[in-house]
Amino acid sequence: PIRILRTVDAVRKWRKPQYLDHRIVGLVPTMGALHEGHLSLIRAAARESHHVVISTYVNPAQFGIKEDLASYPVTWESDCKILAELDRELADDGGNLGRISAVFAPTTPEMYPSGFPGQEVDSKGSFVVLTPISDLLEGGTRPTFFRGVATVCMKLFNIVQPEKVYFGQKDVQQTVVIRKMIKDFMLPTEVVVGPTVRESDGLALSSRNVYLGQRRRRVATVLHHALKTAESKYLEGALDRETILKAANAIASDTLNEQLALTPEKRVKFEVDYISLADPFTMEEITEVDPKIGGILSCAFKM
Ligand code: PAJ
Repeated sequence: PIRILRTVDAVRKWRKPQYLDHRIVGLVPTMGALHEGHLSLIRAAARESHHVVISTYVNPAQFGIKEDLASYPVTWESDCKILAELDRELADDGGNLGRISAVFAPTTPEMYPSGFPGQEVDSKGSFVVLTPISDLLEGGTRPTFFRGVATVCMKLFNIVQPEKVYFGQKDVQQTVVIRKMIKDFMLPTEVVVGPTVRESDGLALSSRNVYLGQRRRRVATVLHHALKTAESKYLEGALDRETILKAANAIASDTLNEQLALTPEKRVKFEVDYISLADPFTMEEITEVDPKIGGILSCAFKM
């Protein structure tokens, strides 16, 4: 059976013998509300770790004061069922090294032992801060987001002490922040990035998709369309920013115009937040892709 661990102490007690036995522990950090995107990371972890630990903690520090902390989906019972089912599937597949050993589901007092510092930009407390990467792109509209993510991941890594940690490409800037944190703080952990799992129309699976109504849900597929178009320019040999991003920008303005052509009641508010081609280590915008290191295409729209 999968252990449910609620405290740091319980994880440490479980972890110690795995160390002595040289068992590889893989950690998949999540905020619960599990879907196929999370499960694909757990499957990847089971292939190469003796023990998979999943954390399900809705970390308040990464939500801005005006964001959706209060409404973020919590589906603990169904998460447990999903994990039990997945664990049986992992057991039946001979190609796996390990299975799901534990779910770490702590409380906020457990994760913030000196007291939760608050969600304000100027909150006082102990934080892991990486700049300027945390202020770029997603960090532009969400100034406390990557501080919250880096801080909670540092805590989770120190609690679980995993050999490997698994993150999804969907949140690509998050993967770059975590890699940088691991490098700059000399953490003995390897990052594995899993591919984005999508619906058949291209929309990436996300716990937050439940917020989308039918119309916004359809408009949201423009994200994947714009990224694919930009990627295809690069795959055709283009290296300069202008050529790679031109068609993606055109798709965004077409979508905007389509929306404006509708009657106001049928309209989805649509605005480009960013369409980015960035350095894969710093997330700073680049004018030319160095084919030796590649570039990261990402975009966000406000709807
Ligand atoms: P959460 O949004 O629950 O996502 C947990 C992990 O699943 C992240 O690494 C995310 O990139 C990955 N993931 C989400 N949707 C995916 C998809 N469609 N395909 C592939 N992977 C996907 O990201 C977080 O939680 C938090 O910021 C966390 C890292 C847990 C820190 O609190």
